[in-house]
Amino acid sequence: MTGAGTGPRQWFLDGSAEAEKNLRHTVDAVLDAVLSNDPPSPFPALGPAELRSATEHVDPLPDIGCEPERVLSEIGRVVLRHGVRVTDPYCAAHLHSPTLITAAVTELAIGLTNQSMDSFDQAPVATYVEDLLVRTLAAVLGLPGTASGVLTSGGTSSNLLGLLLARERAGTGTTVSGLPGESRRWRVLTSAAAHISVRQAASVLGLGRDAVVPVGTDHAGRMRVDDLDRVLAGLDDAGLSPIALVGTAGTTDSGAIDPLDALADRAAARGAWFHIDAAVGSALALSERLRPMLAGLERADSITADLHKLWWQPIGASALLVRNAGTLHGFREPADYLNRRDGTAELDLVDRSLDTSRRFDALKILVSLRITGRLRLAGFVEHLVDLTAEAGRLVDAHPQLELIAPPQTVTVLFRCRAPEGSPVDGQDALNTRVQRDLLASGRAVVGRTRWKGRTVLKLTLVNPLATAGDIAGLLDLIAGAAGPGIQEGMPYP
Ligand SMILES: Cc1ncc(COP(=O)(O)O)c(C=O)c1O
Repeated sequence: MTGAGTGPRQWFLDGSAEAEKNLRHTVDAVLDAVLSNDPPSPFPALGPAELRSATEHVDPLPDIGCEPERVLSEIGRVVLRHGVRVTDPYCAAHLHSPTLITAAVTELAIGLTNQSMDSFDQAPVATYVEDLLVRTLAAVLGLPGTASGVLTSGGTSSNLLGLLLARERAGTGTTVSGLPGESRRWRVLTSAAAHISVRQAASVLGLGRDAVVPVGTDHAGRMRVDDLDRVLAGLDDAGLSPIALVGTAGTTDSGAIDPLDALADRAAARGAWFHIDAAVGSALALSERLRPMLAGLERADSITADLHKLWWQPIGASALLVRNAGTLHGFREPADYLNRRDGTAELDLVDRSLDTSRRFDALKILVSLRITGRLRLAGFVEHLVDLTAEAGRLVDAHPQLELIAPPQTVTVLFRCRAPEGSPVDGQDALNTRVQRDLLASGRAVVGRTRWKGRTVLKLTLVNPLATAGDIAGLLDLIAGAAGPGIQEGMPYP
């Protein structure tokens, strides 16, 4: 199976018996490694130094290859066993979900057949599969029949592409001749709770991070429309031009959904591009019950929908969807070898993408959505939104915990209470310590962020396996980690 001197046949899937045997053998070894090395806890109890030193013993490129069983069993012991256990209900810090088995296993077909989504001659039918998929996703999100889209590696890339289109709308030809002088007056408006990738995109696009003007949020983390109007009036006074308004459907910290309809009105009145970052919230559209929470989504010029969050796809899987297919073309330069404009290829998806070579991730999405079905997926999302509301009630009723913002989608912000009269930074330090201790001991992965200037804890509930009993147990664990000193009035720090 290994070593020098063997021909290429067994190494590549070419229809030969040798290749098939090697494939089955390697798949068995991979599955054995995964199935027998489920991490024992949500996070490894080993520290960074131990993890690093364990990996240093693995030679990534030996002169002579090793047997699959040997490599996979070592990888199982050293790597897989010490990973984050994403199926564990106590792994609840990030928008980092377990994956549908069907999607994960279809990655094998993606890798083995290796279609490249840039040009029709590298992905003939795959091109149409992705095109069909993005049109389907756009329809689920309420966009009209003119809609189109492209898959990207994540929400950061989708937001970048959405804002590139906004920049194109503001100054036709910027992708060819660069930013015009007037671009110094261009501004992108988004809430203070928007994801960092919006500012990052403005930086990459040459507008500069400071071109992003934050709009204030309410107690739940939603953009305040009165503040948006105030900011817009301020831009007018200063002779600045809002080229894009970015709403968020599901903010990273409080899960808030901006008042999208009101934002759409403001964007339309100004001729600004309306982009919605629905990296988190897009999955609510699967459910008839939850879809009304996204009212106004259907008015966007572009939407970011991450499928590797609540749609339970393996990373990466995101989509940038546009209301009008035509807006997604024109920023890519034709290349003689690839997307030549001689009419021989009907569709080269590279014209829609910032990537050139690109994975056929549409396949895992299509296969897993078809097998799972919309209603079952909707059930998972509804369960998680209900679980999050229940988590909020449990926090509220817990004597040692304090709810910070009303849960809206899949996150709960809260804090461990510090003794009466503790200084603010003492409370912050307490919550920092709790989160760090739980992580270091491997017992729980709990989020920690800043909210209105204070350090707070966060649960992000994207694991459909989690139950209310799990969450109650996790909250007790967190309160316990804060220590008995809290009730006894022990000073902290
Ligand atoms: C609202 C929002 N937008 C965008 C992103 C970025 O997504 P990704 O990590 O897939 O790049 C995140 C990540 O958590 C997010 O919460």
